[in-house]
Amino acid sequence: MSLAVCPGSFDPVTLGHLDVIRRARSMFDEVVVVVAHNAAKHPLLSVEERVALVEGAVKDIPDVRVVAWDGLLADYLKQSGAHAVVKGLRGGADVDAELGMALLNRHLSGVETVFVPGDGALAHVASSLVKDVARHGGAIDDLVPPGVAAAVSAALDGGTR
Ligand code: PNS
Repeated sequence: MSLAVCPGSFDPVTLGHLDVIRRARSMFDEVVVVVAHNAAKHPLLSVEERVALVEGAVKDIPDVRVVAWDGLLADYLKQSGAHAVVKGLRGGADVDAELGMALLNRHLSGVETVFVPGDGALAHVASSLVKDVARHGGAIDDLVPPGVAAAVSAALDGGTR
């Protein structure tokens, strides 16, 4: 059984993430979505909320699991026996952001990263932009899986917006 890992912050999961997870699943027998901490970011949603939202989004895709991971991704890759990391590319900025991580993860774990072009119709969809739109009162329902917009709205209402 081939195993791919789709890592990210998923703060929150978007239709772009879901597109990449589906593409990863089309290439590998099993996919684990790793909801990771990113020390450079201050997430809006808790890890538990992010995991629950990704689980809801992938519930109809067979052989896709979701885990939280607070550590080096390379350590998860080694412990899980993953065959590849799969990451989506929307454009050149993603290449710049992802290449170093791919090289470092390969250096640390020996696991390769496979880059897959995402759906061009979703090239403008990013978690950071989705949160910004919601923070300013815009509709994000058609950018995220069902239930995510309400969770983002609740989290924003619970904070200072
Ligand atoms: O969705 P993001 O925030 O762009 O995903 C980045 C993420 C979470 C995949 C990356 O920061 C990560 O792998 N974090 C775990 C800690 C780690 O392994 N850091 C070194 C990355 S080479």
